[in-house]
Amino acid sequence: MVLQNDFKRQWELVQGSALEAVRRVGASGRYILGQEVESFEAALADFCGIRHTVGVGNGMDALEISLRCLGLKQGDKVLTTPLSAFATTLAILRSGGFPVFVDVDELGAIDLGQCRQLLERDNSIRFMVPVHLYGFPMSLPELGRLQQDFGLSIVEDCAQAIGASYAGAPVGTVGQAAATSFYPTKNLGAMGDGGAVLSNDATVAEKAKTLRDYGQSSHYAHVEIGLNSRLDEIQAALLHDAFLPYLSQWTDHRRRVACAYHDQIDHPNIQLLRPPSEMNPIWHLFPVRCGEGKRDSLLRHLRSCDIMTGIHYPRIIPDQVALAGKALSHTAVDPTIARRFANEELSLPIHPFLTDQEISTVIDACNKWKE
Ligand SMILES: Cc1ncc(COP(=O)(O)O)c(C=O)c1O
Repeated sequence: MVLQNDFKRQWELVQGSALEAVRRVGASGRYILGQEVESFEAALADFCGIRHTVGVGNGMDALEISLRCLGLKQGDKVLTTPLSAFATTLAILRSGGFPVFVDVDELGAIDLGQCRQLLERDNSIRFMVPVHLYGFPMSLPELGRLQQDFGLSIVEDCAQAIGASYAGAPVGTVGQAAATSFYPTKNLGAMGDGGAVLSNDATVAEKAKTLRDYGQSSHYAHVEIGLNSRLDEIQAALLHDAFLPYLSQWTDHRRRVACAYHDQIDHPNIQLLRPPSEMNPIWHLFPVRCGEGKRDSLLRHLRSCDIMTGIHYPRIIPDQVALAGKALSHTAVDPTIARRFANEELSLPIHPFLTDQEISTVIDACNKWKE
């Protein structure tokens, strides 16, 4: 079976350092907000090319905390994408924001041209949460121009894009804050939930530390209506010792898999997404598009060849039952392309433990698909 992720193979590789990390935390007698979280935050900041990181409970909280750090108030409009994990929009709603959707571009990212047009029409939009979807970094210079031209506060959703860069600049460095997730399937995944706020601004990082810990600035001094959203010492130690040291090597492997798929998958109805050369993606996923109404056939065919696939995402965010028909958000531009992704996208297996044999199995199966 060719899996979407292979955690058993990962465990084979990391178990020595993972068990040692757990032993160290156990022996320390400190399980919440101690040295492990601090060490991991420093190592992550270094890896991401950013000054500060703050470990939190999960990626969704990282987004909510980031928005609150940037001063989002109840009812503020937040420009965002209709094509992402629902958590992106949920975080906006939970922080009191009002999501405003435009469509996506041909790589599935929020359409920055449409953002500009909308911002020119509506000067009440002050916040934006773009998502570096699938591990493709969106244009950071263009994002920076929007930020400058419209005075935007931007939180980059880097949950799927840790380590990606655009023209040499790492994702997460244009927004005043960024958020990432350590959900186990992510490129840097923990053995449970986790996330982090990233920022070059020390004030943002300080406020994020306060918000993650009941809003206290010091013990029992509550200055904000905070959350309980702390990264555990155990998860921090695992991330630091067992996973982060492999991340570059794992990303290289993902890139090799993507290269092989690009070179060798050749089927008229399997459209591969090809990011331009300025983008250095980290291939969190390998999305392909098949013609309207053909995805089920491809999915079933690959399943019959023992290949597991995913769909990212089968329903766009504004059409989710929690939002549809309610006055909780606004769709400013009909998300035609996002809906096309929802109908046509299929994610092929891409992970650091795929063998050459498995890569060939996927390529052959794709090329032999009879619609
Ligand atoms: C793009 C994106 N944003 C946010 C999240 C939320 O992260 P978490 O599951 O850690 O809350 C995810 C993960 O599912 C994601 O893929």
